[in-house]
Amino acid sequence: MTISITQPICVTGASGFLASWVTKMLIDQGYTVHATTRKMEKALFLKNLDGATDDNLKIFDGCDFSVENSFDKAIEGCYAVIHCASPFFNAGGTRENLIDPAVEGTEMVLNACKKYNVQRVTLTASSACVIVDYGTKADASATGNHVYTDADFSPADILEEKKNYYSLSKLYAEQKAWEMSKEEGCPYKLCVLNPSLIWGPMTKGQTHLNTSSAAIIQYMDGTHSKIQNGVRCVVDVRDVAEAHITPITQDIGWGKRYLLFGGAPHFQETASFVKKALTQNGSDAALSLVKNVPTEVDEKLQPTVMGPSADKPLLFDCTPAEKELGIKFKSVEEMVTTCVNELLANGFTGSNQYDTTKL
Ligand SMILES: NC(=O)c1ccc[n+]([C@@H]2O[C@H](COP(=O)([O-])OP(=O)(O)OC[C@H]3O[C@@H](n4cnc5c(N)ncnc54)[C@H](OP(=O)(O)O)[C@@H]3O)[C@@H](O)[C@H]2O)c1
Repeated sequence: MTISITQPICVTGASGFLASWVTKMLIDQGYTVHATTRKMEKALFLKNLDGATDDNLKIFDGCDFSVENSFDKAIEGCYAVIHCASPFFNAGGTRENLIDPAVEGTEMVLNACKKYNVQRVTLTASSACVIVDYGTKADASATGNHVYTDADFSPADILEEKKNYYSLSKLYAEQKAWEMSKEEGCPYKLCVLNPSLIWGPMTKGQTHLNTSSAAIIQYMDGTHSKIQNGVRCVVDVRDVAEAHITPITQDIGWGKRYLLFGGAPHFQETASFVKKALTQNGSDAALSLVKNVPTEVDEKLQPTVMGPSADKPLLFDCTPAEKELGIKFKSVEEMVTTCVNELLANGFTGSNQYDTTKL
């Protein structure tokens, strides 16, 4: 049952791939959004979302994890906060540029929620907090077929040993959020969402090529001469956005974490969907890229990082998200096709447009 919410809902990092969808869907559903960004020019495209007005969308700039209390103005007066902002890249990641901002940023946002008596918080965690165990769980289980659920946690000691700073940034930020939600006098209830790699369409006008969409570009621009021999768990950005909004609007899911996986395709399937999407798109730009899509699968298996070794199926159970949050996960073909079409519509055709300084 939808509850009545008259106060604004704050979305952090609203220029981002996921948070711009959250913003769009909240506006579509009639809510008022306080959107945060570090730089106004990066978020200005949100003003062009269908139905966005000066009344239902207020953009707050200067909201930066390195600037003390910089989220206060955006959060003051809000009923709920959807905390999506976090640095997301892998290459060049360190403790200082990934873990520190993710954890300190989460603490800053949640402290502002406490200060301004926010009632509900949904937080973007990641499959990085759940399945990144370098094969230690699935391969060591009796059947080699461990089924991942929201009860699983990636082991911090192994992530530290492997220097997997992005996964650690998500794991430690999620831990910080749970700790703070259990402190005495905390005014808000917390729900955590753990999505896998997110594909699907960018919102129109997104200014940067985000990390997960860049993985699809690599199958369009010749980066991969052979298809990677492995699987990757993926989920549609629209399903992930809905999962962040539903707990707030339906008042459900508090105190829980939800695994959000829409499928686990082998890259061979992904490559075939990319080729089909480019062909069906039919624009000159799309057709010129078809020849770049690799057809031969690399003999070498992808390293074991998430779940079991690449020759075994990656098993997971997302029925809580389906049954409790009502998510009907979109198909992998739908995610890949819409991702390709909207990358092209936003003018992204090559990995050379991926610039971590613009994330
Ligand atoms: N995409 C995926 O595959 C995936 C999978 C699982 C989880 N996630 C999580 O989903 C969330 C959104 O990711 P995304 O894919 O949408 O990436 P994205 O497009 O790079 O968006 C992340 C946003 O976070 C904000 N941000 C980054 N560093 C910040 C800092 N130091 N201070 C303040 N804000 C900062 C940025 O907003 P401004 O530049 O406007 O300030 C940026 O737009 C992240 O928490 C990510 O870890 C993503």
